[in-house]
Amino acid sequence: MPAEVAGAALIDGKELAERIRADVALESAALAARGVTPGLSVVLVGDDPASAVYVGAKEKASREAGMAGETIRLPVDTTQAQLLAIVERLNADPRVHGILVQMPLPRQIDPDTVIRHIRPDKDVDGFHPVNVGKLLIGHTDGFAPCTPAGVQRMLMEYGVETRGAEVVVIGRSTIVGKPMAALLMQPGAGADATVTVCHSRTRDLAAHTRRADILIVAAGRARMVTADMVKPGAVVIDVGMNRIPDATTKSGTRLVGDVDFDGVRRVASLITPVPGGVGPMTIAMLLHNTVRAAARTLDG
Ligand code: GUN
Repeated sequence: MPAEVAGAALIDGKELAERIRADVALESAALAARGVTPGLSVVLVGDDPASAVYVGAKEKASREAGMAGETIRLPVDTTQAQLLAIVERLNADPRVHGILVQMPLPRQIDPDTVIRHIRPDKDVDGFHPVNVGKLLIGHTDGFAPCTPAGVQRMLMEYGVETRGAEVVVIGRSTIVGKPMAALLMQPGAGADATVTVCHSRTRDLAAHTRRADILIVAAGRARMVTADMVKPGAVVIDVGMNRIPDATTKSGTRLVGDVDFDGVRRVASLITPVPGGVGPMTIAMLLHNTVRAAARTLDG
């Protein structure tokens, strides 16, 4: 008989995101009372099904938080010039405090050119080079990308000690891995960590992950982190969202993370599920950033 395993406690991202969204709704109402209703404009180009789902969720959440704004849906053959013209219009519109252009974009459009056109003070995604630079420097008057900001908030809310902790991040994307490392290496609350960033060229990945007190996985590979790669008692944050075939479901697919949840939860002390972990936090932080953008137009 195998020894009884207590198993990790779960981080409930859905519940935490609901709390943050309730706070955001209060702040949004307070700003509206002062004449500034936070406005979020989301732009979706093309008909990628996953993007359509994410954008629909952002639209619904912003409405529920009492925000104004619109979702602009454009055909897949939209030119870069047409998209830039829309960004310019949103940049100039005082009712719009946050602009989000959903990624990925169709091939004929260069994402970096689009991101550079968004006014940094409306870039609630935190992708503009000005905001990326502020994050790395440690200036807090920019916007941090929503997913890593959501992970940091989760760690803080669940009382996970990051100061001096060994954090290993798997993945070096601009949306998650790099800003995640930048956030956690800063001095201050919810940070002060020793951060290692691993990626597809890392030699002996498991040797790194086994040292981690906090393991954050954003690699985009279904269930790549297995129990033998995790230090007993570690905190494991799974940013992965992979759709895999599953004949037992109605859609024929199932969403899984980058972590082998059933195996790893026997070793870890605290773990995020997929779905219901990091995903809901991303939208909550987007709304949080939009309220901050709106508040700044009042406070200067
Ligand atoms: N595509 C996947 N995640 C994101 C995100 O956080 N922001 C945008 N704009 N596009 C995405």
